[in-house]
Amino acid sequence: MHMIDLISKKRDGFPLTQQEIQYIIHNYTQGLIPDYQMSAFLMAVYFQKMTNEEATYLALAMRDSGDVIDLSSIPGIKVDKHSTGGVGDKVTLILGPLLASLGAKFAKMSGRGLGHTGGTIDKLESIPGYQVERSVEDFIAQVNEIGIAVVGQSGDVAPADKKLYALRDVTATVDVIPLIASSIMSKKLASGADAIVLDVKVGHGAFMKTEEEAVKLAELMVSIGRLAGKKMTAILTGMDEPLGHKIGNALEVYEAIETLQGRGPKDLVEVTVTIGSHLMLDSNLAISLDDAKQKLYQALNDGSAYKKFLELAKAQGGDINALKDPEALLAKKRIAILSDKEGYITDINALDIGKAAMRLGAGRETKEDQVLLDVGVDLHVKIGHYIKKGDTLATLYVRDKGIEEASNLIKHAIVIGKEHKDIPLIKRTIK
Ligand code: URA
Repeated sequence: MHMIDLISKKRDGFPLTQQEIQYIIHNYTQGLIPDYQMSAFLMAVYFQKMTNEEATYLALAMRDSGDVIDLSSIPGIKVDKHSTGGVGDKVTLILGPLLASLGAKFAKMSGRGLGHTGGTIDKLESIPGYQVERSVEDFIAQVNEIGIAVVGQSGDVAPADKKLYALRDVTATVDVIPLIASSIMSKKLASGADAIVLDVKVGHGAFMKTEEEAVKLAELMVSIGRLAGKKMTAILTGMDEPLGHKIGNALEVYEAIETLQGRGPKDLVEVTVTIGSHLMLDSNLAISLDDAKQKLYQALNDGSAYKKFLELAKAQGGDINALKDPEALLAKKRIAILSDKEGYITDINALDIGKAAMRLGAGRETKEDQVLLDVGVDLHVKIGHYIKKGDTLATLYVRDKGIEEASNLIKHAIVIGKEHKDIPLIKRTIK
């Protein structure tokens, strides 16, 4: 087999076989196919796309390029979730302890944030002492002991995807549904869970701007997961405005704690409980979605989910006394953004709010950037709220970085109009 023939085959619109895709991924990971040939191949895929079969072969080849975590020494069904990335998305911090408090096995490897979306690992590091690095043995032992572990990617998971994603990033080939689907699913399949719920975000703060694109991505990921023997669900959820109110690492831990104590914002609770209800059913811990939801709400309201969160933090070295006063983890300097109009909030551009938090230092513009854990944005309004002139729209938690730019982004992101608007949050479920 020769790479040049496979590039021409794809360029001319013919589907590749499983063997051919394995050849490309294996040899590219080994350094035997140079970046210039792989770039040409990626551009051919950009224009000719891939069939669902090809995307599945690609996901499987990338999964097999590195460690595949074996969770079989944890009895029962292991669950995982993945979000395609949103602003203020702190669902994992709540969902994990919530499910574990009801008997599920939540074995999660998470990533760091890049660009306007945050990463669970950065958020967890705002808990003083919390260790995100764990050996696979310790990860498994912790899930066996307390039902949950949330760690950074351990071992060498899907190295082919790492190399390919970096190349896509600089060759304008990120934005291709089969490449996104196989990239995400290669890592999910390598992480070893039996049941996976994908939260596919749709809206201007998300990767997928339209519902049509999001459905295509979701259906393809569900199909790849199912062919690999996993229980799969994808839920399309809105990212037309940030999820919850707080954006920034310690701010999101703060809001997660409020939610785990039964005081969470409606949209955040709704997304968490919807995802959780499918994983409860997949784990045989409920007899119907309604039964699952009832159990989940109860665990949020009776303190058991919060108790499990403290157990998780403690097991990973976190200082749980610091969590009793999460306000102390936030930057002391605060700036209020006031409304200069009266009316209904008709839009909150999640992308711009995410960028504002990033400019303050909460996110990374490049992989090498250090994040500031205590800065960010607390939005006081949601779409549909009515506000008066002089009301506070948002509070910025700042150090000395990006204040003016962030303030301008927030002022432009929040649109005030005359009509009351209500947008559905849970758009679709794909099984
Ligand atoms: N996230 C991933 O992990 N891969 C992609 O290709 C896009 C988003």
